[in-house]
Formats: sequence, structure tokens, C-alpha cells
Amino acid sequence: MSFRIQPTPPARPNRCQLFGPGSRPAIFDKMAGSAADVINLDLEDSVAPSDKDSARANIIQAIGDIDWGKKTLSVRINGLDTPYWYRDVVDLLEKASDRIDQIMIPKVGCAADIYAVDALVTAVERARGRTRPIKFEVIIESAAGIAHVEEIAAASPRLEAMSLGAADFAASMGMSTTGIGGTQENYYMLHDGAKHWSDPWHWAQAAIVAACRTHGVLPVDGPFGDFSDDEGFRAQALRSATLGMVGKWAIHPKQVALANDVFTPSETAVAEAREILAAMEDAKAKGEGATVYKGRLVDIASIKQAEVIVKQAEMIAGY
Ligand code: COA
Ligand code: MG
Repeated sequence: MSFRIQPTPPARPNRCQLFGPGSRPAIFDKMAGSAADVINLDLEDSVAPSDKDSARANIIQAIGDIDWGKKTLSVRINGLDTPYWYRDVVDLLEKASDRIDQIMIPKVGCAADIYAVDALVTAVERARGRTRPIKFEVIIESAAGIAHVEEIAAASPRLEAMSLGAADFAASMGMSTTGIGGTQENYYMLHDGAKHWSDPWHWAQAAIVAACRTHGVLPVDGPFGDFSDDEGFRAQALRSATLGMVGKWAIHPKQVALANDVFTPSETAVAEAREILAAMEDAKAKGEGATVYKGRLVDIASIKQAEVIVKQAEMIAGY
């Protein structure tokens, strides 16, 4: 390993991010009462242009008025290619209470996008004497975003999380699909005449995970559009968790429990990880670097793998 230690990401649960349009304040209380770790109040694509001003006002009021408990409270601002984003940032920082934790920047294409928002946020924070610095999260959802994913992950100390936005990503890449995440009917291999479906999101997810892990940012899987398909959501979430992502968005409240279930290490997984750690303690006591656990090799690398699971479970339990 290089001499630089891989930074640890923020120690907070991010198993599910529940979205709701800022133009629909009637659901804000329900969002606050949900089991999602992160709440994303949206000013961007779920809000029509004619509703941008009222949605901003709804969100500013709700940030102060509603009891959001221990949740991470994030607002998705409009993209830097719109006339709305600067007003989103300025009004949120000048008018909303300190309870706002994070701003989500959509459609980022390069590190300078984050720099621009950071400069504006920093100036308003100083002018207003805000003592709780706002954190950032970003969505990788364009060809430019994935091409520059590593510099984006390194762009600001404010950055805590990075999500893959499947729908805009697919459009930007020119992918032939209208589905939001999940299995794509036409993405298959043939073997002996039988179809075997592959995962068209895999490369982008792995690139995001690598960039995030390099820079201490939480990698998150974005939306799964078909909220009537629980098994499809679960399959997508399991693939994301296997690749190293820590959570997934919910675009409907019924997806929250599905995400929490997948991204909370199971009791069986935690028990097995603890057994591996115990087996390695025994091995080390005997001066051995490797041993056998349930018929398979475990060695010093297995300690790190097992610790990922145990630490995640302890962090969630203790939060
Ligand atoms: N958060 C919390 N509660 C929500 C909710 C949300 N995002 N969406 C719906 N609900 C509530 C409804 O108010 C309803 O509550 P009730 O039982 O007390 O009446 C219940 O959940 C069932 O809602 P349902 O009728 O199935 O859905 P809907 O037709 O009202 O809304 C969507 C469906 C998809 C339009 C809505 O869930 C939504 O706006 N999701 C978020 C979209 C978004 O933010 N997109 C941007 C990110 S991709
Ligand atoms: Mg998008």
C-alpha cells in the first residue's frame, strides 16, 4: 500500500436517502417520520420551473419548523446550468435555520463546479456568521461527471457523499433505455442460446466507489424508478452493497425499509465476521499469518474485510 492511509468516510449512517419534491410540503412530516437516514428535499428535477420560488420558500420554512431528529438533512439545489442555483444557495444559507446539514449538487461535471458552489457558500457563511459549515453531496449523472469522477471526489473538504444518478447518466451517455436503474432488457450475453443479463451500471458504480474510497467520501446508489418492483430494487441494492456502496435512494417511502435492510449488515454476516477475527487472533497467537475458517483460507486481508462489516454494524448501532 502507498504510505498515504486511505481516509475514513464520515461516520454516519447513509443507508437510505428519501427524496421528496419541495413543491409538495404535505409530505415533509411523513419524510421526517420515516426510517431514512438522510432526507433530500428537492428543488431540482421534481419541481416544475413555475414552482421553484415557492418550493424554495417551503423548504426554508420546513428546515426550521419540522423536527428532523438525528437525520442528515440535505437539500438538492438546481444544476449550475440553470438560472436558479445561486438563489437556492443564497436563500438557503441566509434564511434557513442551522438545522440544514448538506447541499446536494446535481449533474456535476468537474471539480470546478464544486469550487464555484464552495466559494459562494463560504462567502455567505462568513457574511452571516454561520458556525456550522454546510456539507456537500454530489450526483454523478453525466458523461463528464464519470470522466472526472476522481477530481470531483477530491474537490472540497465539504464533500461527504456521492451518488450515481442513473436516469440522467443514461441520457448523457446516449444509452438506449428509459428505465431508471436496474436490469436492462437488452443488456445480455448469449450462451448456448440462453440469455444472461449483465449490469450496465457496474462500471460507473465501481468508478464512483474507487474515487470515493480514495478520498474519504461515502459512495451511494441513486434512484430505482419502478417502485412497484421490490425484488428489482433489492437486487440492484444488493449489487451496490457488494461493490462497496453504503446506501441507496428511495423515491417512494416503501423503498426505505428495502434499502435499510440491504445496507444494514445482517446478524449472520456480523457473527461470521467476528468469528473470522477470532480465528485470526488465534492464528496470530500461534505466529501464523493465515488459517482455515469453515474450510476456506482466511489471512491478514480477511481481517480488514471482516472489520469493514463489524465497524459498519457498530457505527449504525451506536448512531
Ligand atoms: N416521502 C414521504 N411520503 C411520501 C412520499 C415521499 N417521497 N411520496 C408519497 N408519500 C406518501 C403519500 O403522501 C401517501 O401518504 P398517505 O398514505 O398518508 O396518504 C403514501 O406515501 C403513499 O403514496 P402514494 O399514493 O403511493 O404515492 P404518490 O402518488 O402520492 O406519490 C411519487 C408518488 C413518486 C410522485 C412520490 O413518491 C414522489 O414525489 N417521490 C419523490 C420524487 C422525487 O423527489 N424525485 C427526485 C429524485 S429522483
Ligand atoms: Mg438527475
